[in-house]
Amino acid sequence: MHKLFITGGAGFIGSAFVRLILAEISSCEITNFDALTYAGNLDNLQGLDESRHRFVHGDIADREAVLNALEEGTDAIINFAAESHVDRSIASAHEFLRTNILGTQVLLDAARERHVPRFVQISTDEVMGSLPEDENAFFTEDSPLAPNNPYAASKAAAEHMVNAAHHTYGLDTVITRCGNNYGPRQFPEKFIPLILSNALEDQSIPLYGDGRNVRDWIYVEDHCRAIMRVFERGRSGEVYNIGARNERRNIDVVKAILDALGKPHELIHHVKDRLGHDRRYAIDPSKVEGDLDWQPVETWESGLEKTIRWYAENGAWIQRARSGAYRDYYTRQYGTEISAR
Ligand SMILES: NC(=O)c1ccc[n+]([C@@H]2O[C@H](COP(=O)([O-])OP(=O)(O)OC[C@H]3O[C@@H](n4cnc5c(N)ncnc54)[C@H](O)[C@@H]3O)[C@@H](O)[C@H]2O)c1
Repeated sequence: MHKLFITGGAGFIGSAFVRLILAEISSCEITNFDALTYAGNLDNLQGLDESRHRFVHGDIADREAVLNALEEGTDAIINFAAESHVDRSIASAHEFLRTNILGTQVLLDAARERHVPRFVQISTDEVMGSLPEDENAFFTEDSPLAPNNPYAASKAAAEHMVNAAHHTYGLDTVITRCGNNYGPRQFPEKFIPLILSNALEDQSIPLYGDGRNVRDWIYVEDHCRAIMRVFERGRSGEVYNIGARNERRNIDVVKAILDALGKPHELIHHVKDRLGHDRRYAIDPSKVEGDLDWQPVETWESGLEKTIRWYAENGAWIQRARSGAYRDYYTRQYGTEISAR
C-alpha cells in the first residue's frame, strides 16, 4: 500500500498524476493538498474514487495546515504545488518566492518532523536556462543551474533547499526536471491550451517574437509515469531529467494544431516578445531511460490528437476555467468559499 501526500493535485500535472495513480495502482491512497489558486480547479478531480482520494484545501507555505493534513504512515510527499506561469512571474515575483521556495521548505521541514520516508520535488528544465539554437547541446543532470526568469529562479532555489535537506539532515529526496507538458486540463493561459481554445473559437492566436523558440514537449501522462518510476526506484539525493526527445519550434506547434483543426494560419498574430525569452530547451533523458527503464508511451502525433480531442469535447471546462466559475462549485461542494489569496 502506498500512501502519498500530493501537493498541487488540482492543477494540470498534479491532477493527471492523481487520476493515473488511482486508476492504475489499486493499492494507492492519496491526500491531495491544494490551495486552489486561479490555476487549481476542482473540476479536474471530478469522478475520482473518494475512498482512496482525500482533498484538503490548504497552502503549502502554512506549516500548521500542512502538519494537520499530513497523516501518519505517509510514504512520500510529492510536491507539484507551484506558481507556474513565467509571464505572471515577470509581472510580479512575490507569490513565486512564497509558494515555490518558502512552501517547499515548509514541506521539507514537515517531512523531517513526521519521518516521511521520501520527498519528490517536481522541478523543471527551465532551471538550467537556455540552450543555443540549432546546436547539438542538451540539458543533462550535470548542467549548471542558470535560471533566466523569476519563475525558473524560484524553482532553482527550491532545488537548492531540497538538496540542502538531503545533505544536512539525510532526508531521502529525489528531484525530477521535465520539459513542457501538454494534455487535457491545462489552464487556458498556457501555450497549447491557449492556441486550442482560441482556434476553436476562430480567435487570433498571439505568438511571441519570431516564433522560433524551441521547447521540448511531453504528453502529461508520460511525465506522470516517469515521476512514479523516480518515486519507486530513483536513487536518493539524485536528479532525473524527463523528456520525450520531442523538440518543436513554437511556430510549428501552432501550425500543427491549426492544420489538425482545419483552421487557417492567418489566425497567427505575432506579438512583442516576452522579456528575456529563453531560446531553446532540449532534454537528454538517457538517465531516466537507462537507469529506471522508462520510455514515453505517446508520440507527438498521438498525444496531440488526444489533447485536441479533449479540448474540442470540453468547451464547458474551458469556459469555467476562464471564468472562475469552479469557485461556485467549490462553495456548493464544501459549503465554504475559497479564501482570497
Ligand atoms: N506545466 C509544465 O509544462 C511543467 C513542466 C515542468 C515542470 N512543471 C512543474 O510541475 C508542477 C505542476 O505544474 P502545473 O503545470 O500542473 O501547474 P498548475 O499551475 O497547473 O498547477 C499548480 C497547482 O498548485 C496549486 N498551488 C499553487 N500555490 C499553492 C500553494 N501555496 N499551496 C498549495 N497549492 C498551491 C494550484 O492551486 C494548482 O492546483 C509545478 O511545480 C511546475 O513547476 C510544469
